[in-house]
Parts: sequence; C-alpha cells; structure tokens
Amino acid sequence: MDGSQILLVNFELLVQKSLYEILCRAGYKVDIASETEEALECISEKPYQIVLTDLNKEDDVELVKDLKDKLDSGEVIILTSYGNLDFAVRSIKLGAFDYLVRPVEDEKIISVIERALLNLPRKKTHGGPFKKLSKKSDDSFHGIIGKSDKLNEIYSVVERIANAKTTILIRGESGTGKRLLAHSIHKADKKRCNKPFVEVSCGALPRDIVESELFGHTKGAFTGAIADRKGRFELAHGGTILLDDIDSLTPDLQVKLLRIIQQKEFERVGDHRTVKVDARIVAATNQDLEKLVSEKKFREDLYYRLNVISIVLPPLRERKEDLPSLLEHFVNLYSKENHKKLKGMDGGVIEVLKNYHWPGNIRELENIIERAVILDTDGVINKDDLPEILISKTMANVSASALNLLKDILREPEKGHILRILKEVGWNKKKAAKKLGINRTTLYNKLRKYNLISQG
Ligand SMILES: Nc1ncnc2c1ncn2[C@@H]1O[C@H](COP(=O)(O)OP(=O)(O)OP(=O)(O)O)[C@@H](O)[C@H]1O
Ligand SMILES: [Mg+2]
Repeated sequence: MDGSQILLVNFELLVQKSLYEILCRAGYKVDIASETEEALECISEKPYQIVLTDLNKEDDVELVKDLKDKLDSGEVIILTSYGNLDFAVRSIKLGAFDYLVRPVEDEKIISVIERALLNLPRKKTHGGPFKKLSKKSDDSFHGIIGKSDKLNEIYSVVERIANAKTTILIRGESGTGKRLLAHSIHKADKKRCNKPFVEVSCGALPRDIVESELFGHTKGAFTGAIADRKGRFELAHGGTILLDDIDSLTPDLQVKLLRIIQQKEFERVGDHRTVKVDARIVAATNQDLEKLVSEKKFREDLYYRLNVISIVLPPLRERKEDLPSLLEHFVNLYSKENHKKLKGMDGGVIEVLKNYHWPGNIRELENIIERAVILDTDGVINKDDLPEILISKTMANVSASALNLLKDILREPEKGHILRILKEVGWNKKKAAKKLGINRTTLYNKLRKYNLISQG
C-alpha cells in the first residue's frame, strides 16, 4: 500500500526472508534490523510507519516501549511464536498495535498492517490544521501553566511576596487553580520550600473534628483521643499551611485563627500549654467574603487580617489565550499516565474549546482532556473525543451570539421606523401601535428600550 516503510526486527533468517518477500510483493518498502540496537538506529534515520518485530524472551516486551518511544508516528506489531496471554497483554499495554502468534497466514499479516496504517494520524481527515505536540520542557511557573497578562501579573506578585511572612488570601471560582497557586507560593519561598506544605480543607472536615485537626489534642481530651496528636498547624511548622474554603470556618475557630495570625500561638484541644508555630498562612475561598462579613457570618477583623494581600485568579473564560498551552500540558500529562502515545490534535478542537464558557474552569478542562485521551483510538485528539455537551453548548453559544449580532443590526432601523410613525401620528401611541402592528405594551417596551419614553 502506497509504499509505506516497514522495518523488520529480530526475526530468524528464514522467517525474515519470507516476510521480506511477502511485504515487498504487497508494495511496501522493507528494511531489516537483526537486533534491537540496529532497529533503533534505523528508526532515527528513517520515518517508519510500521515496525514488525519478533519477541523471544519475556524481557523483550520492554523493547515495544523503546520502539514506540523512538517512532515519531508509527505502530509496532508483534509477530512471534511465543503465544502467551500475559505476554500479549503486556506488550499491548506498552503500546503494541497488535500481537500475532505464528504460524499465521500471509493475508492476516497484511490486513493487520493495513489496519495499523489506517490508524495513523496522517491518514485521517481533519477539521483544521493538524497540530503536532511538542515535547518541550516545562516552562511553567512552579507548575502553573499559562502566560496570559493576568497570570503574568500574578506571578510577579508571588515573586515579590515570596519571602515575606504575610498571610495571603487567594480568591477565584472553583477550579481556577487556587490550590496550585498556594503551592507555588510555598515553592517560591526560599526558606520554606523544603519544609512541609500542609493543606486543610475547612469545608470538607466534619465540624466536630476541625479544631483537633487544626490544633491537635492531648490524650483523653475527648472520647477517641487515645494519644497526643499534633495538629496541622504544628505539622506545617517552618513551612506553609493552606486553609482552603476558609469561608466555612465556624465562628469559634475564626477567633482561634485570628489569634494564631496575630500571636503565632495556640493551645491543643484539652491542653492549657501554649504552642508556638511559624507557618505561613495562605487562605483560599471561592465565596464572596465581603457578603459573608456583611451578613455577620465571617468576622470582619479576621477578614482584614487575611486580606492583607489578596490574589484573584481569573476564570478560564477570561484568559482563553492560555487554552493552547493548557491543552498541550494535559494531553502530555494524561497520555503519559495512560501509556498512550499521542501525536497531536486536530486544529478544530481548540476552536471548540475557545467557544465554550468553562463554568468549571481548569478542572473541567483537565477532566475533559483526560477523558479524550483515554477514549482516543487514533493518536490524534479530535472533536469526536470531546463530550457531546461541549460541542452542543458551543453551538448554542455561537448561535446565541449570532442572534445578538442580528438584534444589534436591527436596532437602528427599528428605532428609526418607530420614530417616523410616531411623528406621523403626532406622538399618539395608540395610533402608532396600530400602524406598527404591535400592541401598546410592546410599543411602550420598545420606547423604553430606545430611550424614547420621555419624548412621548
Ligand atoms: N494554570 C494551571 N496550569 C496547570 N494546571 C492547572 C492550572 N490551574 C489549575 N490546574 C489544575 O486544575 C485542577 C484544579 O485546580 P485547583 O485544585 O488548584 O483549583 P481550585 O481553585 O483550588 O478549585 P476549588 O475551588 O474547586 O477547590 C488541578 O488538577 C490543578 O492542577
Ligand atoms: Mg481548591
């Protein structure tokens, strides 16, 4: 088929000879490598679409991975006399396209090769320019991906406050990366970065144990306290503590927290001795803290203490220029995690993603990409790998914006027409409505909309 390049690896002489003949007759260009080292060299010199290889002993299974990694865009097919289910499963997991056990008919070999070739990305039709994934090294800011102006501003704030002791409040919708940012603040602090980073999800802990979780307890302080236990503040000594969902802290714990911020000390539950800690406090919330303060659900003094430096993470819909790099990051991350070799993505995918409004922000994007990578069968992320809802919501967005555009276009002529008729009938609204073919309420609504009401 169309002169695709095939490399034969590790076959005994006789088998190698017969395969060479069969494949050449079928129209392929065939090269031979008698051992793995040689095969890897051949691959670095020529772009093979298919590597057909034998496996003899169990260790050879690892060879699949080496070959797959080395191939830019190609499939590895195993053809062996070693019929063993475990062996076959392992090689497929490592990335082999198929596992054939000899003896096998010539036709079968050819049909598997054809299937593998069809599976290669270049054989597919795409909805836009194909984007190859780069394997460039991570140029994130302590793991945060994105170079939008809004994020750059945040990075510079983090750098400026890195070695200061101040408490920091991180705000932002759910899934915008508040936890990740807190961790980057910890990492940017030269003194603290090698000490513990401790997280407390204030909203997720049962109310009756939050206090002992945060501050620890002594043996016998309450039923179930069978030994002394350090709280998270003590565990974070020298490092950073992230108090996530700070809005859900109960009023008594708000008081205790205020004291820690002011005096860096507290007592364990059931103990009168004071414990001193040095932990940088980073608090995070996706709630409107000002509103909670005005409703007296959150202490005003604590609010001011926490809010010394506040960083707001913008929602993803306000920094869509970060989508391509986030996309690439998650595709690389999840293909590695799922042992999949993805070569790129269809140009149409990014368009779909850019038109979506991302209510769940980066977490939602991450989940969608993880799913797409797992579902993908052809090495290229395309629109079919995205959830239906994303495509349909996007279409709804597009048609809604087209509709708005139409409304805008019609605004001026409609206003002009109404004005003309009103003048004709001497600003008599009953007559004007009749002439316009609309009822009076609709006319009044339109007059209000076009700021014409005072003229009536
Ligand atoms: N800029 C980014 N670059 C790379 N990954 C990111 C980025 N922002 C968020 N993520 C990833 O998105 C997921 C959600 O982020 P994170 O948990 O930090 O959000 P959050 O704001 O704390 O959400 P919630 O309010 O729901 O707790 C995580 O897996 C995180 O690693
Ligand atoms: Mg969080």
